[in-house]
Amino acid sequence: MNKQTIVGVIGAGTMGSGIAQVASASGHSVKIYDNSKAVLILARQNLVSSVDRLVGKQKISGEEGESIKGKIEWVNDLAKFADCGLVIEAIVENLDIKQKLFSELENIVGDDCILASNTSSLSITSIAAACRKPERVIGIHFFNPATLMPLVEIIKGLTTTSETESKTKKLIDSWNKTTVLAKDTPGFIVNRVARPYYGESIRIYEEGIADFATIDWALKEKGGFKMGPFELMDMIGNDVNYTVTETVWKQFFYDPRYKPSLTQKRLFEAGRFGKKSGQGYYDYSENVVVPEPKRDHTLAEKIFHRVIAMLINEAADALYYGVASKEDIDLAMTKGVNYPKGLLKWCDEIGAEKILSILSQLKEDYSEERYRPGVLLKKMVKEKKKFYS
Ligand code: NAI
Repeated sequence: MNKQTIVGVIGAGTMGSGIAQVASASGHSVKIYDNSKAVLILARQNLVSSVDRLVGKQKISGEEGESIKGKIEWVNDLAKFADCGLVIEAIVENLDIKQKLFSELENIVGDDCILASNTSSLSITSIAAACRKPERVIGIHFFNPATLMPLVEIIKGLTTTSETESKTKKLIDSWNKTTVLAKDTPGFIVNRVARPYYGESIRIYEEGIADFATIDWALKEKGGFKMGPFELMDMIGNDVNYTVTETVWKQFFYDPRYKPSLTQKRLFEAGRFGKKSGQGYYDYSENVVVPEPKRDHTLAEKIFHRVIAMLINEAADALYYGVASKEDIDLAMTKGVNYPKGLLKWCDEIGAEKILSILSQLKEDYSEERYRPGVLLKKMVKEKKKFYS
């Protein structure tokens, strides 16, 4: 694959439109399809205004803007994808629908065409299982907004060949993205390792230890996170965030470590999705008094240490079980969710011994599997090792 490769994008929603823009800006001719004509029209208008805004802000030249817009063909017939060398699917997150689409696509595209899914939570292997040539099916997981977020996770399913993986990585690297390789496991890297940032923060709230504003402040103040967990969940949307949590938990055969919380489930049920619905953990209506955190530094340290210990435990486990390399796990969290540091590097700084002692204390206090320290973390402490030496 190279710049001459025609890229097909299926689904012109939030992710598909962004991916089409990225591919076009990288010099490809792009075809984008959606089964809703109305979505296709709206997506085209939105893309034109987004590119024009970039030109207006002088982020790109007028010529570049025209080229990005001109290289995208908005099609309403999948048969037009016959000459694509790469197709990226970004349709609704439903296995049956995705499988049906992939097997249909195989009758349209050539034998060398790589078929990719942008799925956040479905297994690539299960999507590939519907194909005659599963070896050319791969995960290319962009982050939202695809035009701005640098990270892309490349996921090789059980049946994907190494050739498909290396060709795909090479191409996406040429799009000025930071790629990481992830094993086909629930949540891949980011959506798995980041779970405790939300889950443990909600537990701290549910136990009455602190309110949302105080927890958000604590993690920003002591951890240097750009956004607190509740602000972030409200931005992502409690519908999206809750669904990812529930999916990861189910796919890990109900491992209690990933158990969703009732607090977030109730917000989801009530339609309190966050910023987009006007209310979530916080109220976004006009003239509302923004809640003030309790600026108690001792409490903030406790909150930070509990959350960071859970995050590091998850990152160490992901490394132990071969989800990705230590470098890719750290890169994924800094480039995919803007963490101030990679978690394994952070562990070296804080000390694995301290992290282990926080987890062991939590495990003793709560007698819950959720707090079990991972085997690699214990090994590191025993052998007095660091992740990076
Ligand atoms: P969206 O709902 O904004 O867009 C999906 C689009 O697919 C809609 O326009 C819909 O009309 C179209 N569609 C549905 N079924 C179709 C079919 N059979 N054929 C053609 N078009 C069809 O969804 P969004 O958020 O863009 O997500 C798309 C995919 O990307 C999902 O797999 C999601 O898990 C994944 N993803 C989403 C992220 C996010 O933050 N929204 C981040 C990373 C991945």
